[in-house]
Amino acid sequence: MRGIRLGLIGGATMLVAAAVAADRTQESVARGGFEAKLQYCKTCHGLSGQGYYGYFPMPRLAGQQPQYIENQLRAFLERRRTNPIMANVAHALSPSMISALAAHFQALDPKPLGGAPRALSGLGKRIYEDGLPESNVPACAACHGLDGRGHSEIPRLAGQLYAYTVGQLSGWSKARGQGTAVDTSAVMAPTAHNLTRAQVEAVAAYVSELR
Ligand code: HEC
Ligand code: HEC
Repeated sequence: MRGIRLGLIGGATMLVAAAVAADRTQESVARGGFEAKLQYCKTCHGLSGQGYYGYFPMPRLAGQQPQYIENQLRAFLERRRTNPIMANVAHALSPSMISALAAHFQALDPKPLGGAPRALSGLGKRIYEDGLPESNVPACAACHGLDGRGHSEIPRLAGQLYAYTVGQLSGWSKARGQGTAVDTSAVMAPTAHNLTRAQVEAVAAYVSELR
């Protein structure tokens, strides 16, 4: 009787041990998959997600709103936002991987890369905080926040690369809102169109320095 009971207990322990081992293997596969994807993102977006001045400016993802990251990856995938590089990248990501990557980047907080023409940022601050009523440009701060950190589907602009922001605002409707359905990009379209090139450069310089 005693022997049988000990045998049962021993068997149960082994089963538990086997189950734990199986769990660990699954966990490390998932972890390995995540690490591999993350390293891939960082080859372009920088080791701390700070962005990178390459042949194209690679945008900062550090501190970015997870909801915005998810929206943009879906937009690249569905080609509502056209970018050949990111369409391929987004193609290989599962929804749970997207959430995990977005949470990781949100938590990073490196210094802004800098490099914007400083002389422009005074005008940029005025546009950012007060808008340009004479040209129908609302205050950016009303949506993106005074600190430029954004909120849910409204992106963080603080610390974003100057050249990237200039590029986005100058080419808004060439890349975004390409689908038949209206998406979140429509909110920004009139504002992007109503800014002159000089105003775009000023506001891009200002937000690039925000932390
Ligand atoms: C080969 C380089 C490359 C790799 C690898 C890459 N990206 Fe990108 N990514 C870019 C470029 C370039 C852009 C800017 C596209 C544009 O100009 O519209 C971008 C844009 C983005 C944006 C939009 C940012 C914004 O502010 O609107 C997100 C989100 C993003 N990438 C996430 C990722 C994630 C997550 C990974 C890893 C799974 C990744 N990227 C891997 C080059 C890359
Ligand atoms: C009514 C709210 C609203 C106002 C006002 C607004 N934005 Fe936006 N902005 C958004 C939303 C929403 C998005 C995300 C668009 C998308 O999903 O494609 C966005 C996106 C952007 C992007 C793209 C960021 C990236 O990482 O690619 C830039 C740059 C930007 N806004 C700059 C500005 C500037 C500069 C102003 C002021 C002149 C401004 N915005 C005013 C709502 C607003």
